[in-house]
Amino acid sequence: MSSKKDIITVAIDSPAAAGAGTQAKLISNEFDLFYLDTGKIYRLIGMLYIQNKRKINYNLIKKKIKRINFKDLKDRKLLNDNVAIAASIIAKDKRIRTIIKNLQRNFAYNPPKKFKGSVLDGRDITSVIMKKATFKFYITANVRIRAQRRYLEYKKLKRNISFNEVLKSIKKRDYLDKNRTISPLKKTKDSILINTSKLSKKACFKKIKAIMDKKIYN
Ligand code: CDP
Repeated sequence: MSSKKDIITVAIDSPAAAGAGTQAKLISNEFDLFYLDTGKIYRLIGMLYIQNKRKINYNLIKKKIKRINFKDLKDRKLLNDNVAIAASIIAKDKRIRTIIKNLQRNFAYNPPKKFKGSVLDGRDITSVIMKKATFKFYITANVRIRAQRRYLEYKKLKRNISFNEVLKSIKKRDYLDKNRTISPLKKTKDSILINTSKLSKKACFKKIKAIMDKKIYN
């Protein structure tokens, strides 16, 4: 895919609830980059799959993606745990991943004009979608810490789910995402590993910003 010259592109992959989205937002604000949370696209299709009696309807999915609206991705129902699991189930499907690929690449390499580049986070961004990104990060954390963070987010959203259910759900998704044949989650050799287990959001961002500043301003 051809891209605009001199843009900064940031690719982030992570297991479930590792805080990649938070860091991606901070990066986008700091460096004026367009942010795309690719997980939300999978969640949207996961929701469609639930609504369609758990059957995959490719035509429906294609239509939805063609007319995708950023408002759709803000729907709070997408944050439900059953939608997250459904996203992980449909994410194994090769045809679905192909339908979404160009949309993601277009935003990655040709972001809206007012931005200086793009930042995308997901599971196959460093390995498939943005192989040529200027920066590649793999953000992770201990699974119980990730579950605890997600549990607190659910509590804030008043979702009725226990810590153990969240832990189980995250483990299930990690397993599905890492073991699928198509675009499995993995840390590519050229990605920088950031473990956020013992880092606050701020400390984590400081680390990422230092890495980015060094390359951008040198
Ligand atoms: O925010 P969280 O880490 O819980 O997950 P998400 O980023 O919203 O992604 C939901 C699910 O979509 C993941 O568990 C993956 O199965 C799938 N996904 C994917 O396969 N590839 C991506 N690039 C992004 C998400």
